Amino acid sequence: MTISGDAWRAFTTAFGGDPDGIWCAPGRVNLIGEHVDYAGGLCLPMAIPQVTAAAVRRRIDGRLRLHSTGFDPVEVETDARVGGWGAYVAGVVWALDPPGFRGADIAIVSEVPVGAGLSSSAALEASVALALADLCGLPVDDEGRDALARTCARAENDYAGAPTGGMDQQIALRGRAGHALLLDCADGHVEHIPVDTAAAGLTVLVIDTGTGHRLVDGRYGSRRTEVEEATRLLGRPLREVESVSALHDPTLERRARHVVTEIARVRTAADALRAGRVRDLGPLLDASHRSLRDDFEVSCAELDSAVDTATAAGAHGARMVGGGFGGSAIALCESNDVPGIEAAVTATAEAQGFPPPVFLHATPSPGACRC
Ligand code: GLA
Repeated sequence: MTISGDAWRAFTTAFGGDPDGIWCAPGRVNLIGEHVDYAGGLCLPMAIPQVTAAAVRRRIDGRLRLHSTGFDPVEVETDARVGGWGAYVAGVVWALDPPGFRGADIAIVSEVPVGAGLSSSAALEASVALALADLCGLPVDDEGRDALARTCARAENDYAGAPTGGMDQQIALRGRAGHALLLDCADGHVEHIPVDTAAAGLTVLVIDTGTGHRLVDGRYGSRRTEVEEATRLLGRPLREVESVSALHDPTLERRARHVVTEIARVRTAADALRAGRVRDLGPLLDASHRSLRDDFEVSCAELDSAVDTATAAGAHGARMVGGGFGGSAIALCESNDVPGIEAAVTATAEAQGFPPPVFLHATPSPGACRC
């Protein structure tokens, strides 16, 4: 059974009758360019095959009824304030304010693991946003998707209360199969860069450490505040800065150094991908992880262990992905080496008393669509 079939079934079971349609949006991994989106930097995410599916039917009575396998149902007026998982749906309704919208029944089924740093929240927002845009006649071309991604980010920031930077919503709505998305977070400009890992005999291995991460618990927000403070003190966007030594506060200096060096690594990585030199990403992933661990201080023991073990077992490079403090790492591996690397990472986690890791293989996949 496909996920759209599952969503259809979940809808008919929860609400009776048929949905108007099913819309899907993917999770993501970011190849490189971490914690730079809210600093107006560059990042290079790609969509993964795991998606969230929303089965949606319009209502005309101002009610919003939400159902999701694994979470409590929600039923509210469309203009009510909702917390918990429903905030990521009601927030999109609030931020998009679609013309003529007077309520909906929405059933959600997801393959994107929650709390794994793979952007389950953006996948949820994007599937619902695309559904509402389609049903209410809003544009869903490239420009329309850019606008929808910004709307989803606003829902996450201003309604759900997670001060995230917008990368995840952009890749969920604008990803392309076989491509990574070079996203300029200053102006929203994108370049779709082909990444044919399979033809190169490579696998982007996702290691979900099983250590949950949350973006609303304050630590993500404090990094963002520090970056904004460093930018203010330097008087220029960090992407235009070469040296951060003018910052006298050592913490702010480390945070800013991460952003400046990470943006440079994204540029180098994009050049390598344009030239088809995917393996050259390896050392850049390693350097990105060190910078996130030592300068930005958003890694944790489980992520460091997964990254070190994957590299020692033969990966070209590895790093934590997403907001950090838990969640997932990626390792760029020769496909033939994947079983050995997975076994090594599992054995190390067990020896250290960490949760058993879960592995996914991230082929670059399409963005949100009606299915
Ligand atoms: C989370 C946020 C993104 C981005 C990353 C770190 O995924 O949602 O906006 O800031 O962390 O790169």
